[in-house]
Amino acid sequence: MCGIVGAIADRDVVPVLIEGLKRLEYRGYDSSGIAVLDGDAIRRVRRTGRVAEMEGAAATEGFAATLGIGHTRWATHGGVTESNAHPHVSHGVALVHNGIIENHEQQRERLLALGYEFESQTDTEVIAHLIHYHLQGGGDLLTALQRTVKELTGAYALAVIGRSEPQRMVVARMGCPLLVGLGEGENFVASDVSAILQATRRVMFLEEGDTAELTRAGVRVFAADDAPVEREVRFSDVSLASLELGPYRHFMQKEIHEQPRALADTIEAAIDAGGFPAALFGADAGAVLKDIEGVQILACGTSYYAGLTARYWIEAIAGLPCSVEIASEYRYRAACANPRHLIVTISQSGETLDTMEALKYAKALGHAHTLSICNVPESAIPRASELVCYTRAGAEIGVASTKAFTTQLAALFQLTVVLGKLHGRIDAALEADYLEQLRHLPGSVQHVLNLEPQIVAWAERFAGKSNALFLGRGLHYPIALEGALKLKEISYIHAEAYPAGELKHGPLALVDAEMPVVVIAPNDSLLEKVKSNMQEVRARGGELFVFADQDSNFSASDGVHVIRTPRHAGVLSPVLHTLPVQLLAYHTALARGTDVDKPRNLAKSVTVE
Ligand code: F6R
Repeated sequence: MCGIVGAIADRDVVPVLIEGLKRLEYRGYDSSGIAVLDGDAIRRVRRTGRVAEMEGAAATEGFAATLGIGHTRWATHGGVTESNAHPHVSHGVALVHNGIIENHEQQRERLLALGYEFESQTDTEVIAHLIHYHLQGGGDLLTALQRTVKELTGAYALAVIGRSEPQRMVVARMGCPLLVGLGEGENFVASDVSAILQATRRVMFLEEGDTAELTRAGVRVFAADDAPVEREVRFSDVSLASLELGPYRHFMQKEIHEQPRALADTIEAAIDAGGFPAALFGADAGAVLKDIEGVQILACGTSYYAGLTARYWIEAIAGLPCSVEIASEYRYRAACANPRHLIVTISQSGETLDTMEALKYAKALGHAHTLSICNVPESAIPRASELVCYTRAGAEIGVASTKAFTTQLAALFQLTVVLGKLHGRIDAALEADYLEQLRHLPGSVQHVLNLEPQIVAWAERFAGKSNALFLGRGLHYPIALEGALKLKEISYIHAEAYPAGELKHGPLALVDAEMPVVVIAPNDSLLEKVKSNMQEVRARGGELFVFADQDSNFSASDGVHVIRTPRHAGVLSPVLHTLPVQLLAYHTALARGTDVDKPRNLAKSVTVE
């Protein structure tokens, strides 16, 4: 979704802004723009479409400056037009904004009555006018910003420059991430650290309600009450390599292939500890996790499917009741809260608005204990949670989540074993056994990646299809759901997933010779049931594409294609069976020529409702 970058320096900052916006492209956007202070004038360039087009326009117009802000916009209020693109300008004040201003209509009425004119349909333009209005009332840009944010309700990250103040940029944050990057004689602001890594790794995350002033010489931060405050300076360890494509064609392909390493990093602490200490989830986790009576998982999309998988583990292995709910549904439901159920939010980005709001709602309902599983340090959801487990997938750039999902599963499995130990379901021998299974996981995943050439052959057949069904049972039903989601989001083939036993209750009517049916069929206790469900498909002429494992005893026949994963991975089998469905979606999309890393209409970080 929207992205912000800003810079103040002694050198030309336009290349920094453009490079930063390119680094933010993966989040999804439909227009972009920059504004710079050139002499005593604000100059602005905005374009719909790719950052490269805006970059070309800026170069043609000879943009160069030592103070500037930039933005990638994902339309919410107002269509995808140049006039709705940021930065927005009001009488020498220019700003970029992430988030949504809920009281923008009232503010617009007020500003219209004061004689302001609007050139966009955005909620953002009211902020530019309000800042100008407060500047007129006396005070400087910082004071005007501080007065303005007190009149806003909603979420914002803001970066503002003003014609009258060439020596500084002012910024504000509430409900949307914003960080300051500290350089030598130059300073930066960004919504995501990847945007400024080329310039500095010293960063300061702003807190809710903070405003800040950036000059070339330094940064001053003010808390919500406008009192000066210190914020911790950290060193970002996000690797630049994770932001580069390297030898791969797409980030999605790269990220699929990074899974052995991502999993190894995510389980490293348990391996080093030789077991599953509660401290994997924070210093106070032991007391909290022992005290709970059940688990309520909240998440969206792929992260929700990780939660669905975890439910099978938590109930069967830890013996605790576990519910899983889509965050956007939970947050508007009059749920019956059990305060002794642990709220677990799962979010790759840590910014998903629905998940964040569901977490707040759960707390308001009386849930005392919260745990976040997240891939992005310092993002909003882990910061709002009592306990945290960071997956160590590294930056995920492809919009379709891959390595984040399997590392979420690894984290959730570790949570399951910790809970099982604390609740008396797992003894030392069983703990050692689970650790051994986890230790083998990265290697087994590497073996599954070797199946890629066989999956490419299947993908060529899928590329001509309009629909597909995915079937799984038990632990592997969520993997069928994930396979269908991956296929539809990047190849645009309509795909649905069902528990295989549900087929005969309706979806079987869809099956004919044109319907490919993907079946996740490892050798577990439900295999014979799955085989019967497959017969139901074959009897109606449906073509079966079966992901089995070595022990499943399948052989290919007319209309039945089989790919075997190297070995059965016990309770961790869902992790292994995820890779083939990711690869199938990737190669099908490739064959159809879609924009794999940036599928249409989607964004990486969904920070709006
Ligand atoms: C699908 C995908 C999305 C996300 C969902 C939640 O490939 O990536 O479904 O899983 O938008 O995002 P996070 O995990 O960032 O909360």
